Amino acid sequence: MRSRPYGYPILSLQDQLSSFDNHIERRLSSLCNKFSDEKAFQTLLVSGDPIIYEVYESCRPEAAGELASGLSIVHPGRVGQEYFMTKGHYHKVRDTAEVYYCIQGKGVLLMENESGDTAVEELHPGRVVYVTPRWAHRSINTGGQDLVTFFVYPANAGHDYATIDATGFRKRLLDHDGVPTIVDNHQRSECSG
Ligand code: 6PG
Ligand code: NI
Repeated sequence: MRSRPYGYPILSLQDQLSSFDNHIERRLSSLCNKFSDEKAFQTLLVSGDPIIYEVYESCRPEAAGELASGLSIVHPGRVGQEYFMTKGHYHKVRDTAEVYYCIQGKGVLLMENESGDTAVEELHPGRVVYVTPRWAHRSINTGGQDLVTFFVYPANAGHDYATIDATGFRKRLLDHDGVPTIVDNHQRSECSG
């Protein structure tokens, strides 16, 4: 772990491969029960379990004051009418925010809190989204190329996937005749595990 200040390039794939400490690949099989069209999910799964998104992380000690950063790359595609998306999570330490800066592509950051509110912010190159503390967040790719965002958050925030795994988000983003459309998630369960 570097103790002196350092810089790193992030724009080219070559940069990405060399600049980061950790690389995560999320295949369709790790996103069970996330997409609404189970039949389309199974069809895509047997056709090759594609990588839906990847995360490149610049890891830091999980200590107060440290910041974790990296790139989130959601590949283009759909499961049925539903766009490729990340799992989505709350930070384990709820009172921790996050900044997303979009470098490439087109999409949205779908967010919700435990008080029943939902927020949707567009992602396109040059746009920053500030995820306020206590809001779960999911990146969704509505375009035809990789959706690449640079993210920064407190290194001691942790990830709580269980809450979203149990309930799902209140909203989904579907392709309605080529138009990204927010719809209610009728498969959502209120109980959180
Ligand atoms: C984080 C960031 C970000 C996120 C990725 C993948 O808290 O680490 O929000 O890196 O983890 O976009 O999304 P999931 O963590 O929901 O799979
Ligand atoms: Ni996060």
